[in-house]
Amino acid sequence: MLNNCVMNTYGRYDVIFEKGLGCKIYDTDGREYVDFVSGVAVNCLGHSHPAIINAITNQSNQLIHVSNYYWNTTHMLLAKKLIDNCDHSKVFFCNSGTEAVETALKIARKYGKLKNTEDKNVFIYMDNSFHGRTMGALSVTGQEKYQQDFRPLIKGIKKVNFNDIEDLKNNFDEKVCGIIIEPIQGEGGINIANIEFLKKARELCDKYNALLIFDEVQCGMGRLGSIFAYKKFSVIPDVICIAKALGGGFPIGATITNEKASTAFVPGDHGSTFGGNPLGCAVGVAVLTELIDGGVIDKIEEKSMYLKEKLLEIKKKYGVIDEIKGMGLLIGIRIKTDSNEFCKLCFDKRLLVIAAGDNVVRLLPPLNVSKAELDEALDILQIVISEIAS
Ligand SMILES: Cc1ncc(COP(=O)(O)O)c(C=O)c1O
Repeated sequence: MLNNCVMNTYGRYDVIFEKGLGCKIYDTDGREYVDFVSGVAVNCLGHSHPAIINAITNQSNQLIHVSNYYWNTTHMLLAKKLIDNCDHSKVFFCNSGTEAVETALKIARKYGKLKNTEDKNVFIYMDNSFHGRTMGALSVTGQEKYQQDFRPLIKGIKKVNFNDIEDLKNNFDEKVCGIIIEPIQGEGGINIANIEFLKKARELCDKYNALLIFDEVQCGMGRLGSIFAYKKFSVIPDVICIAKALGGGFPIGATITNEKASTAFVPGDHGSTFGGNPLGCAVGVAVLTELIDGGVIDKIEEKSMYLKEKLLEIKKKYGVIDEIKGMGLLIGIRIKTDSNEFCKLCFDKRLLVIAAGDNVVRLLPPLNVSKAELDEALDILQIVISEIAS
């Protein structure tokens, strides 16, 4: 068996995918599936989008990789495109979400150190959060199941209840160098941050001179209907972590900072061999151009409203759904049954959806999904739900 050589880190479905087009993906037997997982919020333009194919083809004919000891054009272009669309001024490129988070944590530690306070090195993180699998990101991931077998975690971490202003106030002091929050907790079950909570976090960061870090790895890059998620919350963080959809399927991540936070790093403090390579950045530019200039983002709110409205109709009709939640095209269906079992039932009917927490099913269609494709997915969801109800 070919798969004997692969490390056992995922509970995988018994399927091998070999090609995709738009919102559809095909297995080795030619069976077609509607893909509402999008590689977990990665394939924002669907599969095999011509803009991505062209960027890869053209750039790989020019220059695929060059060391960060030299400049390369697409690196600078992508940084500029990101900065032109936010309130921040500097970008560091890496290859994944967890690395973007590690970078943010290191920036905050260094920032704390520069404040000349010996022990200004504590991170505040949220209960139920998810920030990645490397030791720093894992240490600030507020879910026991991910942390339990990997202790000791890094030192200087404090967990706070998500959206609990009192708990946040009680845990904040001058030792805190950074606080990390997902504006919408993705893996944790599509839990939306309260604007008042985020405002308090901003206020406390200003009071104690700590950095406010938003992890937009899952909810950023257009998914909520704005290129950066923070724009939907009227609170501006000091540091933003992005990855996933930035490359539309090509691995790339980034940590974006305001001027204040960017001054923490000097040459030698941080790096990434592949981070910001010409190929990845060319794809990033193509993806952002499509999302922003191609008008994909402008249509998300309309699609979101349609999807939610139809899901609410299904909720009313059968007693299986408890709640429809989320924003933009990051939608959660809280159900009465086990979410993994529900996803398996959808898979059997050729719809890919993914669980978030024990009882939430996530819908993460490509951002350029059509109304007809939304209807196709809704039809399958309705069949699965009606079968559970009967
Ligand atoms: C909010 C958030 N942060 C970080 C990560 C880690 O990203 P990666 O798997 O690219 O390391 C994820 C992955 O799901 C995520 O959802």
